Amino acid sequence: AVELSLRPRYLAEYIGQGQVKENLKVYIEAAKMRKEALDHVLLYGPPGLGKTTLSNIIANELGVNLRTTSGPAIERPGDLAALLTNLQENDVLFIDEIHRLHRTVEEVLYPAMEDFALDIMIGKGPSARSVRLDLPPFTLIGATTRAGLLSAPLRDRFGVVSRLEYYTVDELTFIVSRASEILNVQIVGNAAEEIALRSRGTPRIANRLLKRVRDFAQVRGDGIITAPIANEALKMIQIDEAGLDQIDYKMLTAMIKNFRGGPVGLDTIAATIGEESQTIEDVYEPYLLQIGFLQRSPRGRIVTEQAYRHLGIPVPTEHNK
Ligand code: ADE
Repeated sequence: AVELSLRPRYLAEYIGQGQVKENLKVYIEAAKMRKEALDHVLLYGPPGLGKTTLSNIIANELGVNLRTTSGPAIERPGDLAALLTNLQENDVLFIDEIHRLHRTVEEVLYPAMEDFALDIMIGKGPSARSVRLDLPPFTLIGATTRAGLLSAPLRDRFGVVSRLEYYTVDELTFIVSRASEILNVQIVGNAAEEIALRSRGTPRIANRLLKRVRDFAQVRGDGIITAPIANEALKMIQIDEAGLDQIDYKMLTAMIKNFRGGPVGLDTIAATIGEESQTIEDVYEPYLLQIGFLQRSPRGRIVTEQAYRHLGIPVPTEHNK
């Protein structure tokens, strides 16, 4: 319940993603004025940036119901048909991980998105025929970590396509302060910023770190989160000044020790450190690319000089490489 209440419920409370927010505000307002369903919305970007939160907000702002599901949860066309036929006029259907929809399900979604219609096959063999069932107008909100994973026909059916970006330290500082207020914990000095700096541009991580720091302040201090307490707690949970955790370290050092800093392929990195390729690609790599610790090349990933310096490992020269 706490996790949910930390989430903003209206656009006015939502910090960051300025352009996405401004645009959505207009589209929502216009749809409401016309008493129509909002166009279908595709939200994409790294995990933890607020795709689920935004879809809750969109439904709240529209004053309609939200139905939530995910790509892999919809196993058969009938599952999707059940969801769609239970919607009320202008409701929002949120499909998380929409890139993982089964092909057969995706095909049912096309006419549903385009014409608010469901094409159902009845009968078998020569007497089989297709009947068209009308659906109430609705808004599909799809979320994915990478828009590139979507098939072109599906992507083309979204009227609004918004990319969520990593948050700035200032925005995350606000988010941490806001969450502290909701959690009813005092946070003073630069403590909120110290947490923000290590949150890899991600509110979900900021809120998680805040909760761990709060535990620490409560048990080892007087419950007030000061900057020194925050720093000590973050050190204990092994998050460094750049927000890197043990897995980032394992990955970067393995690339340096075993592959001279690269180029090395994603699957090779994954096998070496025992993580899923998909997790590295969706969760770890985007942030390391963003802060300039990794580079992509046609032959694989490369550790940058900046990363060597951060890790305190001498940068190899052409000579000793
Ligand atoms: N909590 C998590 N994400 C948030 C956001 N973008 N704005 C305000 N509070 C949040």
